Amino acid sequence: MSIDKIATVRLGTDGPLVGVQGFGAMGISDFYGDTDEAAARDTLDAALEAGVTLIDTADMYGKGANEEFLAPFVAAHRDEITLATKFAIERTDDPHYRGIRNDPAYIRSAVEGSLRRLGVDVIDLYYMHRRDPAVPLAESVGAMAELVEHGLVKHLGLSEVTGAELREAHAVHPITALQSEWSLFSRDVEHSAVGAAAELGVAFVPYSPLGRGFLTGAFADATKDLPGGDFRQFQPRFSGDNARRNAALLEPVRTIAEARGVTPAQIALAWVQQRAEVHGLAVVPIPGTRKRARLLENAAATRITLTADELALLEPIAAQVAGDRYPDMSSTSAAREG
Ligand SMILES: NC(=O)c1ccc[n+]([C@@H]2O[C@H](COP(=O)([O-])OP(=O)(O)OC[C@H]3O[C@@H](n4cnc5c(N)ncnc54)[C@H](OP(=O)(O)O)[C@@H]3O)[C@@H](O)[C@H]2O)c1
Repeated sequence: MSIDKIATVRLGTDGPLVGVQGFGAMGISDFYGDTDEAAARDTLDAALEAGVTLIDTADMYGKGANEEFLAPFVAAHRDEITLATKFAIERTDDPHYRGIRNDPAYIRSAVEGSLRRLGVDVIDLYYMHRRDPAVPLAESVGAMAELVEHGLVKHLGLSEVTGAELREAHAVHPITALQSEWSLFSRDVEHSAVGAAAELGVAFVPYSPLGRGFLTGAFADATKDLPGGDFRQFQPRFSGDNARRNAALLEPVRTIAEARGVTPAQIALAWVQQRAEVHGLAVVPIPGTRKRARLLENAAATRITLTADELALLEPIAAQVAGDRYPDMSSTSAAREG
């Protein structure tokens, strides 16, 4: 059966043309439980069949294992995909430890590691995953710009930066994409980052557009539903009273989905995709899944346009969500919004 390809959009002013929805590979190797590798490879094939061409990973996902897992797929389809990876988060054997490194020497060594694990000569889009406010942004972006000059990286991106930080970085070297959490449950980026991206012609790549799965309606109480080792057990939104309250907020999502004969996941993805028109910028959400059928379901959501009445029903949800996006919010853009 042939699958209709999704529409395309340009990432940033001079960036590559990509499918309007990308693929987040993180969950294949980390954070959300075990993976059937054959099913994950089939999911990647489904992504290409559907025109989902922006493939997103990071050096910290599985401590390099996610990049290594992607390497054969990348080798087989190098010219058909836009390959994005990230640096800045250091991990150790302590599963809860996260160090943030933005210094030029670290950046130069991180890119070598990603190129090696991915088996490529050049990374299409290289993001700074988190900001260390102790390192001047101009210094980090300057080091990233040198990678472009040396032909190791084609385009630059940032993750979890404020609007002011995006402007500062863009003045050093054009930034192609900003990747931050944006969904029906997480709208703090609308404070300053979205407006700055729209003004500068930077594409927005919403991560966790399904609220790490919560918006699909799959979780009422993560402490009961999730196996030990699933990172979401530690997410404030997924546990106890917060989870129960947040599950109740999904009622309008379910109502709209039922009326249209689609899934809640598709409504959540259509909402974030439609931010493109609302805010006047390119938006390429990167939902993650380990299953072919869900990949195709998610890609099909790019064809849904919500009505004004439906958007109005969804509008109040984010303000009522109980619990932060992370157990420790200190490295997010929200912590630096002032
Ligand atoms: N820059 C950053 O700091 C940052 C942070 C987090 C994530 N990311 C990136 O963003 C990507 C996506 O975010 P995410 O994986 O955290 O969250 P997400 O895409 O919001 O949700 C993923 C979860 O939803 C489930 N799911 C996906 N499609 C579904 C469907 N149609 N129906 C039911 N369940 C569905 C997946 O389970 P199954 O796998 O079982 O389908 C998985 O548990 C990541 O892969 C990563 O590349 C970036």
